[in-house]
Amino acid sequence: MSRIKIETENRIKEVADIKEVVEDFVKLRRRGANWIGLCPFHHEKTPSFNVSPSKGIFKCFGCGEAGDAVSFVMKHENLSYPEALRYLARKYGIEIEEEEWDDEARARQQRLDSLYLVNDFAREFFEHNLHETDEGRSIGLSYFRQRGFREEIIRKYQLGYAPRQRDALVQAARAKGYNPELLEALGLMRNGRDFFVDRVMFPIHNMSGKVIAFAGRILRKDAKAPKYINSPETEIYHKSRILYGIHQARGAIRREGHVILVEGYTDVLSLAQEGIRQVVASSGTSLTDGQVHLLKRLTEDVWVIYDGDAAGVQAAIRGLGLLLEYDLNVRVVVLPEGEDPDSFVQKEGGERFMEYVRAESKDLVLFHLSQVQDRLRDPIEKTKAVREVVETIARIPQSSKLKRDQYLRECARLMDVGLEALIYELNRLDRARLRKEARKQGVDPAPQAGPEVVKRPTRSGPTPAAETHETQERDLVRVLLTFADKPMDPESGDTVADFIFANFEPVLLDLMDDAVARQIIEEMLSRYEAGQPLDTRYFLQQHPDEQVRRFAADLLFAEDDYSPGWDRHHMPLVTQPPPEENHVADAEKALLNFKLRKVIRLLAQKTRELAEAEKRGEEKQVQTLLQQVAALQKAKIELARALGVVVV
Ligand code: UTP
Ligand code: MN
Repeated sequence: MSRIKIETENRIKEVADIKEVVEDFVKLRRRGANWIGLCPFHHEKTPSFNVSPSKGIFKCFGCGEAGDAVSFVMKHENLSYPEALRYLARKYGIEIEEEEWDDEARARQQRLDSLYLVNDFAREFFEHNLHETDEGRSIGLSYFRQRGFREEIIRKYQLGYAPRQRDALVQAARAKGYNPELLEALGLMRNGRDFFVDRVMFPIHNMSGKVIAFAGRILRKDAKAPKYINSPETEIYHKSRILYGIHQARGAIRREGHVILVEGYTDVLSLAQEGIRQVVASSGTSLTDGQVHLLKRLTEDVWVIYDGDAAGVQAAIRGLGLLLEYDLNVRVVVLPEGEDPDSFVQKEGGERFMEYVRAESKDLVLFHLSQVQDRLRDPIEKTKAVREVVETIARIPQSSKLKRDQYLRECARLMDVGLEALIYELNRLDRARLRKEARKQGVDPAPQAGPEVVKRPTRSGPTPAAETHETQERDLVRVLLTFADKPMDPESGDTVADFIFANFEPVLLDLMDDAVARQIIEEMLSRYEAGQPLDTRYFLQQHPDEQVRRFAADLLFAEDDYSPGWDRHHMPLVTQPPPEENHVADAEKALLNFKLRKVIRLLAQKTRELAEAEKRGEEKQVQTLLQQVAALQKAKIELARALGVVVV
C-alpha cells in the first residue's frame, strides 16, 4: 500500500481554508473575527459551532467537537484521513504524490473506504447497464425518456438500470474481486443474489457526492411489488439524516436562498431538469430531525410543495411543524388537483412553475389558518381550530418572539378571537412543553428556557399617561422570593407559593410592566409547575441574568422600604406588622394589590374600547365588551373588599 507524501499532506493543510471547507456544508455567518453556524455533529437549534479562520480551526461549544479542516472533512463525510486529504486536494487542485505505506491500516478506515468503493462500483455498474447494454437501453433508458428525463439529468443524478438477471451485480463484483461480504453489508446482495433486479436505479448521495445507498423503481405497474425499494440502513447510510438530491442542490440552495422540498425522487429530477436546482426530496416519509438539521445548515427558507390531493395536507401540517421548531421560515404550495411537482413542471415548464409557486405559496401558519376557516362558524369547532393553530405557533422557538407575536396577531384578526386569549393559550402550551421536557430529562429545565411571554400588544396597552404598577409587581416578587416555602394555610399545608400561584392567572404575566419582575415570576411559575424547589438563592446568586440577580438583591436587602408603595395606595403602613412576622397577611396583600391594579387598568381599557365600539355601532363587539366590563367591575369590588380598601 502507499500513502500520501508528507510534503503533499503539508501543502494541503497549508492551502485548505477552514471557512471555505466548512462552508461547503454549513451555512456560516460572521460573528466578530469568527464565523458561526449550526453544528453539523449534533442536533441544535441555535448556533454554537464556531469557525476561526485565523486559527484554522472549528469548535462546537455545544458538543465539544473541534479540529482543523482535515478532521472536519473526516468527521463530516465519514472519511479516513487519507481520503479527507484527497478530498481537500481535489477541492484546491493540488496534485497528490504518494509513497509506500507499511503501517498497518486501521480496520475501520479501510472498511469505510471499501464500502464506498463497492457502492461506487455498483453505481457504475448500473449506469453502464443503462447506457451501454441493449437491455438497459431498451428497458431502462426508454423508460426514463418516456417519462421526459433527458440525457443531461440522467447523467447528473447518475441514474442506472439493474438488469433482469438475478445475480448480474454479484457476478460482476466477483469478477472484479470485491468481497461479497461487502455487497451484503451494503444491502446490494441478499441470499447470494442481487437485491435490485429489473428496476431503474437512483443512487442516493451524501452531501459531498459519495453514493451511500440506492433506490430502485419498478418498471411496470404491479400491485404486489412495492414501487420503490431502498437500501437498508448500513454503516454508511442513515436514512433519517439524508435528503435525496442534497449533493446536487447544495450550491443552488445557497444561491437561491431557499430550498424546495418535495416528496419524490422523480419530482427532484423533473424540477432540476427545468432549471429549478434547489430541490430535495424527503423520499415519501415524514421529516426527521436529522433532515431538518441538514437543511437548516444551508438556508432559513423552506418551500414545501405538496401534491394536489388534499387528503394528506392536514397530516402534513403536523409533520412540517418540525421545520418551525428549527425556526425555519416555511412556505407551503399546494399544486392543482391531481398534479405532483413532476407532472406539473413537465406540463408548465420551469418558469411558469415558479410563477405558480410564488403566487400560490403560503406561509405555513397562515396556510394552517386558511385550512381551518370553514370550522369557525361552529363555536365548539372554532375553539378546537384555534387551539390547533396556536399549537402550530407554539412550535416556533420562544426566542423568536417577534415571529410568534406577528402570527398571534394575524391569528386573532383572521379568526376573530381576542389576542389575550391566544397569548394565554400559547403560554399554557409553552409551560406544558417545558414540564414535559423537564420530566423527560428528569432534570431542572434550564432557567433561561423558562417561558418567555409574548409582549402585551401595545395597541391595547396602557395609555402613555397611565400609571405603571412596578411597585405592586415588585412587592409580589418580594413575597415570592422571601416566603415561597413558608406555610400559608396550616390546615391544608399550602405554602405561600401554592397560594399565590393558585390565584395568579397566567394572563396576568402579560399585563406586567416591569420586565425583570415578570421574568422572575415566570421562572418561578415554571419551576413551581415542574415541581422544582423555588430556590430563591438561585435568583440571588446564580441566575445568568445580571439584572435579575441585582433585582433580587435589591428586594431582599432593602428591608426598610419593603413595600414603598403601600401608603400611596391607602395601605395603613403603621399598623402593618413587619413582613417577617406576618407573611400570611403580607402575601395576601401583595397579591390582592397586584391584581387590583391590573383589574383597574383592564377596566379602564375595556371601558374605552366599549365606548369606541358603541361609536362605531359594532353590536357584537359591544355585547362582548359589556360582559367583560361587568365581570371586571365585580372582580374589582371583591378585591377591594378583601383588601379592606375603598377604591373610588
Ligand atoms: P410516490 O408514490 O409519489 O412516487 O412516492 P413518485 O416519486 O411520484 O414516483 P413516480 O413518479 O411514480 O415514479 C413518493 C416517494 O415515496 C417513496 C419514494 O421516495 C418516492 O419518491 N416511496 C414511494 C418509497 O420509498 N416506496 C414506495 O413504494 C413508494
Ligand atoms: Mn410521481
